[in-house]
Amino acid sequence: MKKKDFTRRRFIATVSASTLAVASNAIPLIGGSNSNAGKLAILGGIPVRSKDKNWPMWPYVDEKIVESIVKTTRSGIWCRIQSQTGTVPTFEKAYADLFGVKLSVAVGSGTQALRTCVEALGIGPGDEVITTPFTDPGTLSSILTSRALPVLADLDRESHQLDPNDVERKITENTRAIMPVHIWGQPCKMERIMAIAKKYNLKVIEDAAQAHLAEYQGKKIGTIGDIGCFSFQAGKTISCGEGGAIIGNDEDLMDKCFTVQNHGTSRRGRTERIGPKYRMNEFEAAVLLGQLGGVKERFALRNENAAYLTSKLKDFPGIVPQKLYEGTASGSFYYYGMTYHKEHFNNADRSKFLKAIAAEGVSLSTMYQSAILNKEPWTDHILNLKVYQKMYSPARLKKFKEELSLPTCDTVCQEAVVMSGSGRFLATKADMDDIINAIMKIYENRDELNSI
Ligand SMILES: Cc1ncc(COP(=O)(O)O)c(C=O)c1O
Repeated sequence: MKKKDFTRRRFIATVSASTLAVASNAIPLIGGSNSNAGKLAILGGIPVRSKDKNWPMWPYVDEKIVESIVKTTRSGIWCRIQSQTGTVPTFEKAYADLFGVKLSVAVGSGTQALRTCVEALGIGPGDEVITTPFTDPGTLSSILTSRALPVLADLDRESHQLDPNDVERKITENTRAIMPVHIWGQPCKMERIMAIAKKYNLKVIEDAAQAHLAEYQGKKIGTIGDIGCFSFQAGKTISCGEGGAIIGNDEDLMDKCFTVQNHGTSRRGRTERIGPKYRMNEFEAAVLLGQLGGVKERFALRNENAAYLTSKLKDFPGIVPQKLYEGTASGSFYYYGMTYHKEHFNNADRSKFLKAIAAEGVSLSTMYQSAILNKEPWTDHILNLKVYQKMYSPARLKKFKEELSLPTCDTVCQEAVVMSGSGRFLATKADMDDIINAIMKIYENRDELNSI
């Protein structure tokens, strides 16, 4: 039997026996009476999802948000230092309560939140911080702008998360912290990362920029490490365009964070430390405060829809959902991560699959692949900078350069496909079925993919 036939037979058998059974016939059987089972839309067929079917709008806007902005505008309190009870301090209290932590400090972005923590922990030139290359440049920026050395560890292929084993291998006598990123909003293997941190006496700054409210082993993401950072940039599941927050229970560290982001000036009114001015403005906090109503319900709905999608993809070998570690009670589902296995799609390049599925009305993307951080010019830039040449030995910088080769990250970059979830996972089950139908239609037509 040819490999193609085997793949096809196995998939259809799986779908018939389990996946579609779970669907209670919600998804029409591919190749049966399903009108979507025809020609690929990119080749002139009818798309699974017509153009007039919109996904829920994101960022989320409702009257509460509008009212909140109007209230702040009318109050004349437009900057947090004008009032202890203005919108920024009110939001900080509400945000800390949402996570069950003692304190929160709001800043102007997720990058600023991370940078503030690096500074507050006294990490600077000569120090090393271990993180992932598979992230937003903001993660890296928080380390580089403190002139510390970002040391990149490799990934777990199935989860797209930082591989704790490689983190441990990358520790040197100058390592001061680990900055795990909860990629796509789902938790990374925190118990291993915390154990490594404890063993080597390192700080853990959680980059939870994408992971609002996700829960792992009974704890909310962002509350497991020494300190947690969030982004409220436009696409995030809690958003105000640009914004960020730090959360934590260590009062002394949180006090330092406040001081750092307030140009080094403490709550006591004295200029005590080095710090940029990263204060969140009152209008950003007004949008966030207005948006907190219903946040838990939206979070629950995203998780419900993500679980539904995962149940439909179960046992389908062509598109495999991001592996969630044991103990993952929930994710933020800012993105829904998947791995594209081209051997099940007639070896068609991922770009062809993406073009075909976009034509079906279900756009997916590759996110970081075009600018993966271990391959960007910043590496040569810092190797040529005087401060790095002064603070790190030639042998260390040589090793840093050599260790930028990360084979599993390369593989993830070639295989990963993602779907934004902030708005899309607020849609209905019928909308989720469209996503599955689009994937399955392409699978059924995989012999055509190479002609695109
Ligand atoms: C994982 C991660 N870290 C850091 C950031 C930086 O956050 P911001 O864009 O708010 O500065 C982002 C934003 O996309 C992110 O996704």
